[in-house]
Amino acid sequence: MLDIQQQVSLLKYNTLALPSTAEYFCKISSTSELYEALAWAREKQLPIILLGGGSNVVLAGNLAGLVIHIAISGIALTNGELVSQEDLVSGIDSAQFERIIRVGAGENWHQLVLYTLEQGWYGLENLSLIPGLTGAAPIQNIGAYGVELSDRFHSLEAIKLSSGDSITMSLSDCQFGYRDSFFKGAGRDQYAITAINLRLSTKEDLCLEYPALNNFFEKNQSGAPITPKQVSDAVCAIRHSKLPDPKDIANAGSFFKNPVISSEQMSVLQEQYPNMVSYDQANGTKKLAAGWLVEQAGWKGVEQSGVGVHNEQALVLVNYQGTGQALLSLAGDIQASVSDKFGITLEIEPRVYT
Ligand code: FAD
Ligand code: EPU
Repeated sequence: MLDIQQQVSLLKYNTLALPSTAEYFCKISSTSELYEALAWAREKQLPIILLGGGSNVVLAGNLAGLVIHIAISGIALTNGELVSQEDLVSGIDSAQFERIIRVGAGENWHQLVLYTLEQGWYGLENLSLIPGLTGAAPIQNIGAYGVELSDRFHSLEAIKLSSGDSITMSLSDCQFGYRDSFFKGAGRDQYAITAINLRLSTKEDLCLEYPALNNFFEKNQSGAPITPKQVSDAVCAIRHSKLPDPKDIANAGSFFKNPVISSEQMSVLQEQYPNMVSYDQANGTKKLAAGWLVEQAGWKGVEQSGVGVHNEQALVLVNYQGTGQALLSLAGDIQASVSDKFGITLEIEPRVYT
């Protein structure tokens, strides 16, 4: 039986630890409970807000309507039998190595990564230690250290909030981009993702090009071949050294997206700022490091009204004891000063609820 509570504090449900209250709140552990919750909200004509681990939301006010915390668990292999060790060695056909796994939206992402590595299903190692739940991963197409969810994505299962219809969406349906998807555009607030299907492999195919990862293995080389588990451990070590743990300092990871500009604009900026950090994109555009821009604009370590800019990673805004409004005000000041100095518009990455 669904337990719908009233006036529930969301302090523990958002990693920025912002004070906010849900008018109504429930936790659902199955699709049938989700149907029940949706029908309840529809009957009362209440808006619905979906919440996973709360690691990519800015709660800048109380939430009217029903907040549904998705806790659907389960991980299953969906495409047949395991390949014999003999076939693995002879490398017969790459399709034989493929493993498609179906994961409930409420599974913790990092625990999923560790579980797949234990099973010998590779491909998620670069995405280790990203907070949050699996169902939210497609929303912004999570990415880190040279790999994005879209590189390992097969399909997802979702329920349309307005009708209760269930649908399956393919890779192309999801329209993934850098920190972007259909669910941030035309599909915003319209679907509850209940499960995702990932395309993994029993064959190791390491992706070590990301500079920080490459440097790590150059410094820590033992001569022996690098394993996916070692890549995962390396990603965890790099992340620990750079990003504040929300348990210690409340934050939502990168607060702004890295801006993408034309190569012409880059050439102009580089004349004035020869040290500006940028990454070449496949289509000829340049991705700038927003952390560098924020630091150069003088914001690193700044604290105001109980919120601030992390003193080691300027792309991470932190909450000491402030409010969502104070955080948005700080973000606005940073955006204005980066725009004044560089003519670049910074876009907020997490989802803002006002
Ligand atoms: P939530 O914050 O609960 O929700 C985010 C959005 O998704 C909301 O709009 C919510 O309505 C929607 N949503 C959630 N679940 C569902 C569902 N089942 N169906 C439909 N909509 C849903 N992100 C990266 O990409 N790369 C990183 O390297 C990275 N590092 C981070 C480091 C730190 C320290 C932190 C705090 C965050 C980081 N993030 C990173 C951001 C965050 O971890 C990801 O965006 C993650 O996928 C959010 O998951 P969540 O369950 O916490 O989502
Ligand atoms: N930098 C500075 N000053 C700073 C912070 C960074 O000059 O205060 C410079 C660094 O020296 C480096 C560059 O900016 O040259 C990039 O920094 P880093 O490698 O730490 O990555 P990032 O751009 O800050 C992005 C993602 C992260 C992801 C990492 C690794 C975005 C918005 N952020 O961060 O994702 O984990 O790369 O792939 O794309 C998130 O989305 O929440 C997130 C943490």
